[in-house]
Amino acid sequence: MLRENSLNDKKIIITGGGSGLGKSMAEVLLRLGAQVMICSRNEEKLKNAVAELKEKTGGKVAYAVCDVRSFEETERALYQAVETFGQINALINNAAGNFISPTERLSARAFDVIIDIVLRGTKNMTLSAGKYWIKEQIRPVSVVNIVTTYAFTGSAYVVPSASAKAGVLAMTRSLAVEWAKYGMRFNAVAPGPFPTKGAWDRLLPGNLKEKFDPAKRIPLKRVGEHIELANLVSYLISDYSAYINGEIITIDGGEWLYGAGQFNALEQISPGQWDALEQMIKAKKNE
Ligand code: HXC
Ligand code: NAP
Repeated sequence: MLRENSLNDKKIIITGGGSGLGKSMAEVLLRLGAQVMICSRNEEKLKNAVAELKEKTGGKVAYAVCDVRSFEETERALYQAVETFGQINALINNAAGNFISPTERLSARAFDVIIDIVLRGTKNMTLSAGKYWIKEQIRPVSVVNIVTTYAFTGSAYVVPSASAKAGVLAMTRSLAVEWAKYGMRFNAVAPGPFPTKGAWDRLLPGNLKEKFDPAKRIPLKRVGEHIELANLVSYLISDYSAYINGEIITIDGGEWLYGAGQFNALEQISPGQWDALEQMIKAKKNE
């Protein structure tokens, strides 16, 4: 979507960049000239991802092993990235944990693990980077937080994730105001369903894929393509979006609105049925 080399001056950390959407975003950002540090827990996965991304793009990409639940580890990853690229001026908080479960079945630890990865993890990386940007007077800076549409609607059966993502959304909007004076922008992206192994294994296991096929409840009748999300995030990282701050951009083919509109399910009514209904409604006019 963007012109070649339009991210030449961007040095970006992507948490959870070794798989799924994080890796897809890394690929597109590298193609546009950015330098990218991916970080997560599994070193083997990170090594393989770096090799794959280097081969595909020829770009400057490195990894840091980092559990975002630990502030010490996000600090270490940040300074490793600074040492590697000279500075960091963008961050994509993408790492997440999630699984479906009735809330009453969750142990306290199971609830905590999701809050810790998503909300505490985003806080840790954001605070590490924010303090560094202020101290070093680095600007402009762009932070993109990956949330979901249920960050603002809520959702049953993923309550820890919904609670944590809602917190990330509040953090995004709050810091967009507070840290704008330091030259930082904060935006969030709320994707609908984009197939990844990480999400599908935990949210649509077994035959749930067929039973609750997400494409069926999306007005555009398909799931998202990784490149579509990566293009949007590239734009938000770039200076072309320099006046967008504190925004949450939904990219879900209309899914959440389909669930919200009171009469949206009427799309199942056939043209013939509409003829009959029209007659019935008109016949009531003079009763
Ligand atoms: C109930 C479960 C459970 C399940 C784990 N637990 N899975 N409880 N149902 N299916 C419980 C465990 O029993 C344990 O509690 C506690 O959770 C912690 O589990 P661990 O396995 O020890 O944790 P850890 O090794 O840190 O792994 C974290 C994880 C795992 C979240 C559980 O799935 C993970 O590493 N996920 C990372 C990737 C990921 O989740 N990607 C999907 C993102 S998709 P006890 O009490 O027994 O000790 C996404 C999409 C959003 O966010 C929107 C979609 C449209
Ligand atoms: P994914 O491949 O499972 O990505 C999650 C990443 O987070 C993994 O690379 C994982 O790596 C990393 N991670 C997990 N816990 C971590 C921790 N404690 N510290 C550091 N890294 C950690 O799933 P995905 O679908 O690409 O999800 C990416 C983002 O998109 C998430 O924020 C998710 O909520 C969001 N999202 C996805 C969808 C979708 O349909 N796929 C929809 C809406 C929103 P390790 O396990 O190696 O640490």
